[in-house]
Formats: sequence, structure tokens, C-alpha cells
Amino acid sequence: MNRSVFVISFLVSLLFSPVIAETYQTKRLADDGIHDPTNSALNILQEPAESMVDFPLDRRGQIDWVRAIQEGKIAPRKSKSGDEYEGGEIMLEMDMDLILKQTDSMPNVRFPHLAHTQWLACSNCHPKIFIPQYEANPISMEKILKGEFCGRCHDKVAFSLWVCERCHSVPHEGSPVGYGQQ
Ligand code: HEC
Ligand code: HEC
Ligand code: HEC
Repeated sequence: MNRSVFVISFLVSLLFSPVIAETYQTKRLADDGIHDPTNSALNILQEPAESMVDFPLDRRGQIDWVRAIQEGKIAPRKSKSGDEYEGGEIMLEMDMDLILKQTDSMPNVRFPHLAHTQWLACSNCHPKIFIPQYEANPISMEKILKGEFCGRCHDKVAFSLWVCERCHSVPHEGSPVGYGQQ
């Protein structure tokens, strides 16, 4: 194979290389608009691209924090000091899935309490955002997109609303076959 063909096919293979495609793309601390680039103490901080290099990503290339916990990449503390009983409420993990079915032709929504209570206390949601009773809350996609209910966190501090399939994960008779499959 002549040299330029070799170089080009090498570059093309890089383009499709999973290592490159699956690395989390992020700004350097000095360019992120949050840290002061002239402060010499910046050197002691680890670059996000380095600390999160092997973290699992979702379809849009954002970090999949739920898998990051499941794979043991991170172990969030229960409080600022790490002491489970520090101050007020104790954080309890609770494994209870609820299937929300007002989804028209979209697959139904599986709401997992476990993936939430690994980070959040019950009082983060109950009773202000959701009355703790199945189907008691008038949730709709429009309200979510306007920042109510699930939209209080999703697209802000939790994963984006554009990965529909992470919520709409339970197919039903009227939903398209293979929805959300890659
Ligand atoms: C991220 C938000 C969130 C957190 C945190 C959360 N929940 Fe819920 N919970 C919900 C949603 C959403 C529903 C379903 C509401 C609906 O169907 O309208 C629900 C429903 C419930 C229900 C009703 C179940 C039923 O069958 O009627 C109970 C009980 C409940 N939660 C208890 C808890 C407890 C205990 C905790 C903490 C260990 C907790 N929840 C943490 C969002 C949350
Ligand atoms: C954070 C979770 C979440 C994500 C992400 C999400 N949805 Fe929803 N969606 C819901 C919930 C919850 C409901 C209401 C279910 C219920 O009340 O039974 C809903 C309802 C709907 C409905 C029913 C009609 C309506 O307006 O309520 C449609 C259609 C819908 N979603 C489309 C989408 C599409 C398209 C996307 C991606 C662009 C998406 N959703 C992303 C949680 C989500
Ligand atoms: C108080 C904040 C908050 C609210 C309200 C909230 N979520 Fe979440 N949700 C999170 C956080 C934090 C995570 C875990 C981190 C992440 O994935 O970004 C999460 C994770 C999830 C997951 C796990 C996805 C997976 O891949 O396993 C689903 C599904 C989900 N949320 C759906 C919903 C739905 C549906 C609602 C509304 C009924 C909702 N969430 C309301 C904060 C919230």
C-alpha cells in the first residue's frame, strides 16, 4: 500500500475508533469560563477530561452517571462530610420502579426510585414536586419541557430530555418497534 493511502486509511480508522469516539469531550479548566485562568493554583486541579476518561457515555456523548455508579467509577457521599447521619435526613436507597403510562404512542416511562435515591433524599421530591401516590400527579411532556415535574432536574442537573429512550423505555402495543435502539 502506498504511503498516502496508508496515512489516509489510518486517519479514517481513527475517526471510527471507539476509543476516540467514546472519550468524553470537555473544555479544559482554564477555558471553561468558571475557573480563573490566571490563578496559578489551577495546576493542582485534575482536568475533567483526564479524571473522567473511561466514564460510560450516553447516546449523545454525555456522561451516563447511572452507569458510572453501577460500574463503581464513582461512589457518591451521603453528606458533605461523608457521615451518613450528618444533620437532618438520612438518605435511604429504595428500589421501586413505577410505570407511568400516559405517553400516547411513545413507550411508557419507567420511573426508577433506585437510580434517584442513590443521589437524592425522599424530601427532594416528596411532597413538593410529586405527591407520593401512583398516578396522582398531572405530569405531561409539555410541563416537563417547561421545567416542571421531571424537568425540575432533567436537562439541568440530570441527563438531557433529548435522550427520550432513557425515560420512555417500556414499549407497549401502540409504540413504534425498536424505538430508542441504536
Ligand atoms: C426524583 C424524585 C423522587 C424521589 C427522590 C423519591 N420519589 Fe417517590 N415518587 C416519585 C414519583 C415520580 C412517583 C410517582 C408519582 C405518580 O405516579 O404520579 C413517586 C411515588 C412514590 C410513592 C407512591 C407509590 C404508589 O404505589 O402509589 C411512594 C410511597 C414513594 N414515592 C416513596 C418514596 C420514598 C420513601 C422515597 C425516598 C426513599 C422517594 N419516594 C423518593 C419521585 C421520587
Ligand atoms: C426525564 C424523563 C423523560 C424524558 C427524557 C422524556 N420524557 Fe416524555 N414523558 C415523561 C413523563 C414522565 C411523561 C408523562 C407520563 C405519565 O404521566 O404517565 C411523558 C409523556 C410524554 C408524551 C405523552 C404526551 C404528553 O405530552 O405528555 C409524549 C408524546 C412524550 N413524553 C414524548 C417524549 C419525547 C419525544 C421525548 C424526547 C425528545 C421525551 N418524551 C423525553 C418523561 C420523559
Ligand atoms: C430532584 C431531581 C430529579 C427529578 C425531579 C427527577 N429526576 Fe430522574 N434523575 C435525577 C438524577 C440526579 C439522576 C441520576 C443522574 C443522571 O442520570 O443524570 C436521574 C436518573 C433518572 C433515570 C435513570 C436512567 C437510567 O439510565 O437508568 C430515569 C429513567 C429518570 N431519572 C427518569 C425521571 C422521570 C421520569 C422523572 C419524573 C417523573 C424524574 N426522573 C424526575 C434527578 C431527578
